[in-house]
Amino acid sequence: MDNPTGIQQTQEICENKRAIIDQIIAENQNRPGAMMVVLNETQGKIGYISPAMQKYIAKKLRVPVGAVHGVVTFYSFFTTEPRGKHTMKFCMGTACYVGGIPQLMEKAKQITGTEIGKTTADGNLTMEICRCVGACSQAPVVTVDDEVIGHIKPNKFPALIKKLLES
Ligand code: FES
Repeated sequence: MDNPTGIQQTQEICENKRAIIDQIIAENQNRPGAMMVVLNETQGKIGYISPAMQKYIAKKLRVPVGAVHGVVTFYSFFTTEPRGKHTMKFCMGTACYVGGIPQLMEKAKQITGTEIGKTTADGNLTMEICRCVGACSQAPVVTVDDEVIGHIKPNKFPALIKKLLES
């Protein structure tokens, strides 16, 4: 059937990704906890699980879409959009919050022109928030590609962002 709006097409899964998901499901659908395994593998191999992929996986595993969506949105490991080359996470734990993370987030948004939770247009940097990473004595803390960086000085922060945008 024709698709006059084009909207649905962007929500569909390309052949390549569908083949990857089909293989993951074929290998895991009879295992206990198959849904979690399939979602983990899909995130690992494709890098994200879009709403269309969630729907497809739910249909193939014969589970409600809401169950798949619930898992994907509950665990921060999963993402619904492709991540950038680098990921910076802002710790929103109490120590970091009072230590200046909100101001650093504002600065990051200004420098990149990108909202927290999104990826820069050049695909270099995804910015997200996270819970306490256990380095409270170093507040304020961000993680960059899983490296913890603490004691961030507001005047040094722009250089860190720019380095990530250029590397
Ligand atoms: S509150 Fe940020 S590391 Fe604990």
